[in-house]
Parts: sequence; C-alpha cells; structure tokens
Amino acid sequence: MNLLDYLPGVPDFPRPGILFRDISPLLAHPAAFKEAILQLEALAREFDYSHILGIESRGFIFGSALAHQTHKGFALARKPNKLPLASHRESYGLEYGSDSLEIQQSTLPQGVRVLIVDDVLATGGTIIAASQLLQKAGFEVAGALTLLEITGLNGGATLNQKGIANRTVLV
Ligand code: PRP
Ligand code: MG
Repeated sequence: MNLLDYLPGVPDFPRPGILFRDISPLLAHPAAFKEAILQLEALAREFDYSHILGIESRGFIFGSALAHQTHKGFALARKPNKLPLASHRESYGLEYGSDSLEIQQSTLPQGVRVLIVDDVLATGGTIIAASQLLQKAGFEVAGALTLLEITGLNGGATLNQKGIANRTVLV
C-alpha cells in the first residue's frame, strides 16, 4: 500500500502556490489509517520518550492514535486561548501566515521526555515552536515525528540545525 495515494495534493489551497496535502482520504480508509499509525510506530521506536505531544489540529489525530497504539501518555499543544489553566505560549511563522501554540504548565510530570507528533512537516516552524514550549515548561524534547515531509522547504534540515531529532514516514 502506498500511503501517498491516500494523501492527494490540492493545488493553491489555502493560498495560491501552496500544494495542500489532504489527509481526509487516508483517515476515511481504515486500512490506510492503520498502516499510517503502524509506520509511525515503527519510527517512534527510534526515540526514547514516555509521552507524545500532539499539535492542534491535525497532529491530534495522528498523535493520539499513536499514543494509544504505543501505550504512551498524550498531551495537547493547542491554538491560543483554548486551555483552561495557566499555560506557556509560543508564536511562530507558517508557510501561509502565523499562529501561536500553548501547552498547559501542569500537563505532564516534570522532566519527562516528550515526542512531538504532527501530520506534516513543512518549514518546521510549528515543531520548533512546540519544542520551545516543551523546554519552557521543563520537559525534555525526545524529537519530532511526522507522517509527511513536504520537500523543498528544508523542514528536516531546519529541525536538525535546531538540534531536534526528526523522522518522517513519507516525503
Ligand atoms: C499545518 C500542518 C502542520 C504545519 C506544518 O498545520 O498540520 O501542523 O502546518 O507547517 P510548518 O512545518 O511550516 O510549521 P496548520 O497550522 O495549517 O493547522 P491545522 O493542523 O489546524 O490544519
Ligand atoms: Mg497542523
């Protein structure tokens, strides 16, 4: 099974010049979704971690399924003003625009090693912000795992430069 067949590119969304990868066909196909999680699980074995951080919103889907599959704890990196308790915030630039992420200060036991999970690695800005959030909050960043890296934006190299170990299932 070629998972890329279930991640069709949609040209010029959400802005002209952007080739958007639609995860909906993969999620709608049980065998493809299962295979995606199994392939993420295989790469996750390369990391030493006790908890997964999923990035809102598409990272929640793959991160929580992977946490369930691997029997790890799961934490939320949320878009701004969604969390009820005291939180850390980081702003970051995106391929199309800018945004912020927050994690709750009391989410995880202090010092645990956390694997960041998201659907797509593009520029790396989102994962760098998530990594900075985890460090601010006193957690160890085990690394970052994505289903797909968009080639040509050098996200993997950017994460390497920042010292964030990273693996992706598909390029
Ligand atoms: C997309 C994607 C990644 C991020 C990758 O999320 O799901 O999280 O962009 O881009 P980067 O590597 O350049 O930071 P988006 O912010 O569009 O929101 P969504 O997950 O809520 O759809
Ligand atoms: Mg996202």
